[in-house]
Amino acid sequence: MTTRIIGTGSYMPEHIVTNDDLAKIVETSDEWIRSRTGIGERRIATVENTSDMAAKAAQAALRQAGIGADEIDLILLGTSSPDHCFPNGACEVQAQIGAVNAACFDISAACSGYVFALNTAHAFISTGLYRTALVIGADVLSKLIDWADRGTCVLFGDGAGATVVRADEKGILGMNMHSEGAKGGVLTCGSRSNGNFLLGKKPDLGYMTMDGQEVFKFAVKKVPECINEVLENTHTFKDEVAYFVIHQANYRIIESIAKRMKIDADKFPVNMEHYGNTSAASVPILLDEMNRAGKIKSGDKIVLSGFGGGLTWGATLLEW
Ligand code: COA
Repeated sequence: MTTRIIGTGSYMPEHIVTNDDLAKIVETSDEWIRSRTGIGERRIATVENTSDMAAKAAQAALRQAGIGADEIDLILLGTSSPDHCFPNGACEVQAQIGAVNAACFDISAACSGYVFALNTAHAFISTGLYRTALVIGADVLSKLIDWADRGTCVLFGDGAGATVVRADEKGILGMNMHSEGAKGGVLTCGSRSNGNFLLGKKPDLGYMTMDGQEVFKFAVKKVPECINEVLENTHTFKDEVAYFVIHQANYRIIESIAKRMKIDADKFPVNMEHYGNTSAASVPILLDEMNRAGKIKSGDKIVLSGFGGGLTWGATLLEW
């Protein structure tokens, strides 16, 4: 028994912020951002929180799957920007959609959050513990970014993507997850270690910090490694794969991965031009867009891969 995606959904805030809009608040330009990242605009949440966007994406996925929220046994939310430390974001989604029978928790793996959550759901489903799960990636990194730091603020956007997964004969063929905590310092956000009432210090969560070039090098090395690993472990040739759905951080990263792996870049769909890097949401948003556009056929083999803070990275191979 394996785990099959039976419904997809996504939600993006309405408000569009273009590169030209950003050029009014930091010293940058549309040309710089597009040429370095492939990003043209991003959606920024105004009224929505992470749980609101996640719940809307989840409802769309449930509608497509044709099942009721009460049939969900497990909700896993990949996020690094939950509304609260607790209750966790998955519980807040549960409350909004009425999935009263689900166990709910968040997976904190930054931009790898959806892939890690999907693989975790698969571990529960393939062992028979649960039958149906809602796997979501959602983030509002706009609330964690220093909007005066041009090195990070141009990269990210807000959004949510969701999938309903169920035990089936066909679906996930293989997966892996990796972490390297010793290199965590290259991408950090939200320190909770600096508040101390004895020392008279108020907690200050702090903004995101990033060593862009280190993150770039990490991604173009580790993503091909974990994709090759999942292909080898499942005796799958790369030519058999219809699409490589990679975390949408940056077009140049995806281009380098395709080149390193000697795979046609056309097999790597992209949508970061319109949404920027939506962190844990990027893989399920792209999957939902492809699914709704009728681009994925039954039997297609698809690789999903996420990478990000932690450092974390991983891949999933599935048959649609
Ligand atoms: N607009 C204009 N100039 C900018 C800028 C911006 N938004 N951000 C940085 N610059 C400047 C720098 O200050 C630097 O100027 P200097 O040469 O005078 O010091 C110059 O551009 C080059 O900076 P550098 O950091 O070397 O650029 P880069 O080519 O490495 O591109 C990134 C920067 C962030 C686009 C790139 O490193 C990257 O994509 N890294 C991966 C980031 C990522 O995807 N993170 C999330 C992973 S989940």
